[in-house]
Amino acid sequence: MGIYFDEKQQLFHLQGKNTSYVLQVYGEGYLAHLYWGRKTKNYRHSNELQFADRAFSGNPSTAKDRTFSLDTLPQEYPGYGNTDFRTPAYQVQLDNGTTVTDLRYASHMIRNGKPKLDGLPAVYTEEDNEAETLEITLRDQIAGIAAVLSYTVFHERNVITRSVRLINEGKHPVRLLRALSTNVDFRDSDFDLLQLSGAWGRERHVERHVLRPGLQAVESRRGASSHQQNPFMALLRKGANETSGEVFGFNLVYSGNFTAQAEVDQFSNTRVSIGINPFDFSWLLEEGEAFQCPETVMVYSHEGLGGMSRTFHDLYRTRLVRGSFRDQVRPILVNNWEATYFDFTAEKITEIAKAGKELGIELFVLDDGWFGKRNNDKTSLGDWFVNKEKLPKGLDDLAHSVQELGMQFGLWVEPEMVSAESELYKKHPDWCLHVPDRTCSESRNQLVLDFARKEVRDAVTKMISDVLSSAPVQYVKWDMNRHMTEIGSAALPAERQRETAHRYMLGLYEILETLTSAFSDILFESCSGGGGRFDPGILYYMPQTWASDNTDAISRLKIQYGTSLVYPIISMGAHVSDVPNHQVHRFTSLDIRGDAAMSGNFGYELDLTKLTEVEKEIVKKQVAAYKEIRHLVQFGDFYRLKSPFEGNETAWLFVNMEKSEAAVFYFRVLAEPNASFGKLRLEGLDPERTYEVLGTDEIYGGDELAYSGLSIPASLNGDFQSLFWRFKGI
Ligand code: DGJ
Repeated sequence: MGIYFDEKQQLFHLQGKNTSYVLQVYGEGYLAHLYWGRKTKNYRHSNELQFADRAFSGNPSTAKDRTFSLDTLPQEYPGYGNTDFRTPAYQVQLDNGTTVTDLRYASHMIRNGKPKLDGLPAVYTEEDNEAETLEITLRDQIAGIAAVLSYTVFHERNVITRSVRLINEGKHPVRLLRALSTNVDFRDSDFDLLQLSGAWGRERHVERHVLRPGLQAVESRRGASSHQQNPFMALLRKGANETSGEVFGFNLVYSGNFTAQAEVDQFSNTRVSIGINPFDFSWLLEEGEAFQCPETVMVYSHEGLGGMSRTFHDLYRTRLVRGSFRDQVRPILVNNWEATYFDFTAEKITEIAKAGKELGIELFVLDDGWFGKRNNDKTSLGDWFVNKEKLPKGLDDLAHSVQELGMQFGLWVEPEMVSAESELYKKHPDWCLHVPDRTCSESRNQLVLDFARKEVRDAVTKMISDVLSSAPVQYVKWDMNRHMTEIGSAALPAERQRETAHRYMLGLYEILETLTSAFSDILFESCSGGGGRFDPGILYYMPQTWASDNTDAISRLKIQYGTSLVYPIISMGAHVSDVPNHQVHRFTSLDIRGDAAMSGNFGYELDLTKLTEVEKEIVKKQVAAYKEIRHLVQFGDFYRLKSPFEGNETAWLFVNMEKSEAAVFYFRVLAEPNASFGKLRLEGLDPERTYEVLGTDEIYGGDELAYSGLSIPASLNGDFQSLFWRFKGI
């Protein structure tokens, strides 16, 4: 395991736990991609690169050979303008206005561990001997530009991370028009493409379709990774499924505009590329300056989607998320948003917190509406001082009263925004993103603060620090409720306006780094109208994310299933809310709402003071049960058993690493007349072990449960039913 360099062949072989990635300096310094897939002990070119004289695929000027074309060479970081007609990974406009470049191998370096990325979130190592990093420098002498391609391979994981640093080594400024993070040229197109797409309230739905010739892409132009598309793409071998077959997953560690593309060319090769969306992007690089592209996490699995997900989960849980909460069980919370919206008093808040305490809930979260004149969503973002009409004794007093009840206290903020109706906006009308001579479009009556500007970043950091220091806050919900329009910055010259969206992200990351380090005892949960920014970039700073504003248990099955493809369960905020549900107006039982929410990072979001005695007993039992299984849900391995995208049923299993304890949830959406008898095959248990089903006198072997299955009681009646089992090894 590690990175091997064969000097004679100029060949690099990166070996992870079960995966190999092979590249070679080919011909006159072209960096070619040879292989990515299941691990091979050696790479001896059994599937050699082949060339033929291909019509209309020209030959680079220095090649004498008519069979050699960049159009047919699988490459690691392809450029534009000299015979490759496929999508380039980068494009640079030189001082003379032209855009033809030619990067060739110059040098390389192999080192232990993984260096940090400048100003950007990234996966990390804790010990130097966990991983090795290869840095290959490519150079274009004429253009005076260099690209440093970084690859990290983890010895005990099926993960390769990649990123690129572009450097202007010349004497003139150059403009990056495109600077993607990763390019992989597969030598066939025998794949399905899987993406996570959706909208507000139905985020990350699984879409799988056959790759077709030409370009297919998912992307965001919204200034956020978005509800609509996630910065993730996977190629699946035909027939690959949840438990078997090859899967290649790509996830960009970035929270802004991105593109993820697959292009099937004329010879059925597939080029996958991912990075910052080149749409409305450019970056001026002065002499000596460098541009750091975000990181891509690439996961290989020969054990289907389940294997891919568990690799992502384990990596993100332990080597992306940081801080003291990384390894701590997370508190069960109650949030007042759907209970009161903007209409609350200090007394009401304390009553809800008190009711929560009596039910065993551990954290109370005060949502939107506690500041400025915020009685609706038309006003006060940016005015981060307490609303004395609602909270006459202030935040500190409220936090203390909640804590005196034995509950932790959490607070909602939306620091990236300003309301036009606010004192902040009156004072600094140019602090929002805007372009000269045009009015700003509003969305939810709010404008986006210009985090590309230092004085704005400093002011926001100070305001939020003051709030968090003013009261004993133990949890923060960091919200962001609109996408960017009129993207321009008053701080940037004309030639740098198209840098604004990326500079905003760098500014956001800087603020998050400062605040999460200064307030390292606070648990941060991110949110963007629910799951509009559920991406690894944000998870680096804030270890959990509110998965969706849609709290309906049935809708949540698809949202949480889709999210689980990439993101660990512990990162996924999931709450029990009232019925009829506020988003889809559906009635479901408290039981199924509990089971759906307990399948994530658990909490409640309803007026607990209005529960009946019977409901209180159910909630108490749910809270107690979650406390018993949360180490499995939050730190165990996750196995998807039945997909809500394939039928009426959903099921999943959580098991600890020792495989001595497991929890299984089953959901059936609609009752069916005269239905067939169902069973669940419990993947993930130890086949050698015997398990008791807790609360019953049943005992089964892990092998029997996995191979023959567990029957689903035929007595289940009615729509929206769920079941929950716990297994303990004996
Ligand atoms: C959107 C969030 O997703 C909700 O949970 C809530 O916090 C509201 N914003 C408050 O405005």
